[in-house]
Amino acid sequence: MAGSKYVYVKRFEMPDSLLPGTFTVVRIDGHGFHRFSTEHSFTRPNDERALKLMDQAAQSVMEEYSDIILAFGQSDEYSFLLRKDTKLHNRRHSKILSLLLSLFTSSYTFYWSKYFHEVELKYPPSFDARIVLYPSAKEVRDYFAWRQVDTHINNLYNTAFWALVQQGGESTTQAHALLKGTQSAQKHELLFSRFGINYNHIDVRFRKGSVLVREVQTHSTPGQSMYLTAATASPGSCDSASDNVPAVGAANVASREIRGVTGRREKVIRSVRVRHDDIVGNTFWEARPELLEG
Ligand code: GTP
Ligand code: MG
Repeated sequence: MAGSKYVYVKRFEMPDSLLPGTFTVVRIDGHGFHRFSTEHSFTRPNDERALKLMDQAAQSVMEEYSDIILAFGQSDEYSFLLRKDTKLHNRRHSKILSLLLSLFTSSYTFYWSKYFHEVELKYPPSFDARIVLYPSAKEVRDYFAWRQVDTHINNLYNTAFWALVQQGGESTTQAHALLKGTQSAQKHELLFSRFGINYNHIDVRFRKGSVLVREVQTHSTPGQSMYLTAATASPGSCDSASDNVPAVGAANVASREIRGVTGRREKVIRSVRVRHDDIVGNTFWEARPELLEG
């Protein structure tokens, strides 16, 4: 079909494909979440409901797009790693960015009441997003280490800050002044000596953020299941399966039947799991060499 005389305007649309042979990281960040968290009375310093909702939104995205092999989230942000050789939407930058961002945002609002129950969503939240390309596995490791170290730095500061205000009766100005220039060890010491808080005993979700990976699970008989990847053999923490509700439209929760060693029929399900592992050290990555292949 020839089209109208106006069709020439389409030629102004420029190709925007992502550089081949590079790792793609998409980072999504809540827009104005300082205000959003205040308006919705998030608990300080960490609101478990809000963090679980972020995990749920990220899980929806990961279940929809099987080329996402890893995600990491903390506070109001989530990062997604795509397979190095992804062909998703012909590697079109704007297509990938806008689809992931819109599904994340719609999932955040879709699942709001599941985590916040009677708390009314006062206005529609929005998120910004960017794509960063990394040339090799080293930069990918360093990128995720950067985000998790950031989680630690922020959480240690916020934990000490809000302990001073909520339990110590300090004003926010006094708390800022008390913490100014302190090293990590001094914040640990302050938490322990003044408030009896052992920072290392704080919920691992708050200290490490959330790591989403795909894991293989077999079901041999109803009610029995086993996770099979190396991930289970490595130290770390993993949320219960009930926390890990498959998202609506979870097209990529692959499932197939095999014969187990006992001859019994077994169902193999590859699903997204929320974990709270350390991703700065080597253990996590050595257990999952496929993440950095390409
Ligand atoms: P832009 O991203 O630049 O739009 O700013 P922002 O207001 O979203 O701030 P930023 O992304 O730098 O930081 C996220 C903010 O979200 C934090 O500073 C907190 O105010 C808020 N926030 C995120 N998670 C929590 C939480 O669990 N509890 C509380 N109370 N606040 C949170
Ligand atoms: Mg933000």
